[in-house]
Amino acid sequence: MGYPHPIHPRETPVLSQHFGQAAARTYTGWVERGGYQALRKAIGMAPDDIIAEVKASGLRGRGGAGFPTGLKWSFMPKDDGKPHYLCCNADESEPGTFKDREVMRWTPHALIEGCAIAQLAIRADVTYIYIRGEFTEPYHVMQRALAEAYAEGVLGANALGSGKRIDMVIHRGAGAYICGEETAMMNSIEGRRGNPRIKPPFPAVAGLFGQPTTINNVETLAAVPAIINRGAAWYAGLSLSSPKSTGTKLISVCGHVQRPGTYEITLGFPMKDLIYDLCGGMRPGRTLKAVIPGGSSVPIMTPDEVEACPTDYEGIVAHGSMLGSGGMIVMDDSTDLVYQIMRLARFYAHESCAQCTNCREGTAWTTRILERMLAGEGKQSDLDLLLDLSDQMTGKTICVLSDSCAAPVVSGIHKFRADFDACLSRVRPAVMAGV
Ligand SMILES: Cc1cc2nc3c(=O)[nH]c(=O)nc-3n(C[C@H](O)[C@H](O)[C@H](O)COP(=O)(O)O)c2cc1C
Repeated sequence: MGYPHPIHPRETPVLSQHFGQAAARTYTGWVERGGYQALRKAIGMAPDDIIAEVKASGLRGRGGAGFPTGLKWSFMPKDDGKPHYLCCNADESEPGTFKDREVMRWTPHALIEGCAIAQLAIRADVTYIYIRGEFTEPYHVMQRALAEAYAEGVLGANALGSGKRIDMVIHRGAGAYICGEETAMMNSIEGRRGNPRIKPPFPAVAGLFGQPTTINNVETLAAVPAIINRGAAWYAGLSLSSPKSTGTKLISVCGHVQRPGTYEITLGFPMKDLIYDLCGGMRPGRTLKAVIPGGSSVPIMTPDEVEACPTDYEGIVAHGSMLGSGGMIVMDDSTDLVYQIMRLARFYAHESCAQCTNCREGTAWTTRILERMLAGEGKQSDLDLLLDLSDQMTGKTICVLSDSCAAPVVSGIHKFRADFDACLSRVRPAVMAGV
């Protein structure tokens, strides 16, 4: 037995290759595994050449939006004389998503190396690694690795003897989901309330402390050393479907599968095989009812949609949802979708920063209406009310937290209408006693 599950023959372990190996957490162990060779190589490259390599690899942001990473880096100004910053988004608070913490727990130096290379590419002075407050173990592992990287001369005033300065700071969050939104995160680092900022200006123009800033997810940055080491063509060749979806993706699968966990697949891997082969399928006697493939913020998929869906950016959109963060929530036929959607709405209502009326009121009212329905006091007209509310919550706020609340509600009503009709025809079901 290795890391929580042995690597499945159909996985493509690039980031997860050393998961479960305690020695990989140390500087010596990381160097023995080829660590910091990519940083050495990047130190000898011009910043624009690093950006060109990452662009050519096709790497896209693994935090949720899937924005091309090299392109994002190219937005940073050059020779402007201003301080530049890199923020590594390690807030990972999206329900169902638990992959970034594994990168930090097992291969902290991969993340440090990826941050260092990105820092060189965007000409940044400092990287802030923003770690979710509840991540006690990942924080301690990262802190130890960072201290080692400084002690070994990988970081600091003379990084790897190059004469170049690379600095990194870990900033702990305090447990707010909204601080994973990039502009809220920058406010939080600055010591302000974690409220998202209106864009423009975009972070590459005026970000952290008002200076040009790039924000990237942990998994995105941790993928960079392998791209620099093995080349953009190798990474771009890792694709089972669309040329727009390249490389590997960590998918954290939870819910009603026999072997939940974090799996690394080549993008384009059949979603059905991920659920039934890698994760062992449904529990005995159960059938698949629904999948939320990209963390909780994306539309719910039906078994028919899952059937022929490749796990990649375009394929999942074509089959009714989005890849998002790659947190996959699998539900079997024992699931009451109305109850599960209410639990999600309750999460978003709790986590709304309350700046925007449509989000503050919308997430709260969505929760109350669903609770009322589940308490046996729903009306048929509540479905139209929920859809109308969701419409008012989509595309109308500073950030997409309220859109994220609306996505499972709208898809739930359209695709799992029978659950809503059953709920409306029930009188105070026992399952909701005490909710
Ligand atoms: C409410 C909200 C929460 C978010 N939480 C996270 C998070 O925990 N981690 C993350 O990487 N991105 C999160 N994002 C996305 C970030 O704003 C940003 O797009 C991402 O960090 C960019 O990195 P990438 O291009 O490497 O994906 C969140 C977005 C929203 C709207």
